[in-house]
Amino acid sequence: MKRRNEWEEFFDGHAPLYMDNSFTKNTLEEVEFVLEELRLPPGSRILDVGCGTGRHAVELARRGYQVTGVDISSGMLAEAEKAAREADVDVEWIHADATQFIPDRLFDATICLCEGAFSLLGSYDDPIEHDLAILRNIYAALKPGARFILTAPNGCRLIRQATQEDVENGRFDPVTMVEAFTVEWDTPEGKKSLLVRGGAVMCPQSLSCSFARQGSKRNTSGVGPQGTGGGVGSTLTRWR
Ligand SMILES: C[S@@+](CC[C@H](N)C(=O)[O-])C[C@H]1O[C@@H](n2cnc3c(N)ncnc32)[C@H](O)[C@@H]1O
Repeated sequence: MKRRNEWEEFFDGHAPLYMDNSFTKNTLEEVEFVLEELRLPPGSRILDVGCGTGRHAVELARRGYQVTGVDISSGMLAEAEKAAREADVDVEWIHADATQFIPDRLFDATICLCEGAFSLLGSYDDPIEHDLAILRNIYAALKPGARFILTAPNGCRLIRQATQEDVENGRFDPVTMVEAFTVEWDTPEGKKSLLVRGGAVMCPQSLSCSFARQGSKRNTSGVGPQGTGGGVGSTLTRWR
């Protein structure tokens, strides 16, 4: 991998406690939704980009799918391996940066959920190139007609919450829709913190533009609830 980015360091440190986050508590419902959207028979190959601790990958494997999980953080992958062992399922885990990872086989579907790599920027990443590289690689990994489900942070939240001071202090750039903020995690030596950068998507329409550039079309979209950090989600089909 080219270099360690801040998110990799954060997730390596946060991995043992990741599953305590409240947003991980609806995994079964999320997997039900994914399977309704994908409409694939068990045995199909699914790629999980930014798979984290494998909460979706392991549940999909339990239901008979052949799953490959890719993540930049070895700490998150170690938790994922543990979860797969406990569930007694086989999942292929790959330690890679999704902006560079091109699999050597094609998949029946890809999921990239809860900011799995998408929009999680290293300090030197160009926000447009970063996310387009991930979409390009996902596109290359899909069989023709295969589906792809993506959720991304909601840019409307940033527009609503950011102040002029945030813009002047470089905490939010309304041109690129990138915010800079501090993440914290616990270590045996105490709390650690890092400044990270995250991008956001303004609306499903802007996702459609990015997808169209890769040769995919958007089928359905949803936007998270007003007033929350809720995301923008889409299901796409590779149509060439
Ligand atoms: C918020 S977690 C989401 C994990 C999982 N998809 C879920 O829904 O719980 C984001 C994950 O993306 C991974 N990640 C961040 N940047 C990445 C990149 N460039 N390539 C691959 N994985 C990346 C992180 O290591 C982390 O595991």
